[in-house]
Amino acid sequence: MDRGLFITFEGIDGCGKSTQFEMLKDYLASNGEDFIVVREPGGTVIGEKIRELLLNKKNDSMKPLTELFLFEAARAQITEEVIRPALERGTTVLCDRFFDSTYAYQGFARKLGTDTASTLNYLATGGLEPDITFFIDIPVKVALDRRGIRGEADDRMEALGASFQEDVRKGYLEAASRYPRIRVIDGCDTPENVFEKVKKYYEGAK
Ligand code: TYD
Repeated sequence: MDRGLFITFEGIDGCGKSTQFEMLKDYLASNGEDFIVVREPGGTVIGEKIRELLLNKKNDSMKPLTELFLFEAARAQITEEVIRPALERGTTVLCDRFFDSTYAYQGFARKLGTDTASTLNYLATGGLEPDITFFIDIPVKVALDRRGIRGEADDRMEALGASFQEDVRKGYLEAASRYPRIRVIDGCDTPENVFEKVKKYYEGAK
């Protein structure tokens, strides 16, 4: 049996990634595909506890290295417990964020080093990589305006501000220049037009 397709979505906070994720999910469901959806950090009982530690704004004394290891710990758990078994059954896995988030947020923006992030990513996943990654790219100002409209409360990561998000975006663009599996999709268009591009790449990767 063929391994399932592993698809991940990435982007700065407020980029519209979750909307695209939902649209691809609906598309797969309407085509009767065998798939599961997961998110990072979280997606397992242990991972959801780690998520709470990572995102709770009260944990503002968390050190960057602690943050890095917690993201990787949650990833190791979901990879072995959920993602790898599903792929081995032939099921497609849609994952809202995966290890490119660590590359961009902790490796690049937190300045822990992108090579360090890549090494730990490899360790946490046992070398498992997505087949296709959609990086939904928008300027930070557009993302911040969108978030303002939604009026959502910031979590600990979102509370880091605009210049941090600028660095995260640069980190993603650097990752995209290194890894051909990452498709940079301009997220400034309407959700429907952005999805046309996502759908095209998905169909090409199937
Ligand atoms: P979440 O509410 O899932 O955000 P979003 O809806 O934007 O995906 O929060 C996850 C936050 O954690 C988000 O700010 C990105 C950050 N993050 C990292 O810094 N490193 C990582 O490895 C992952 C997976 C997420």
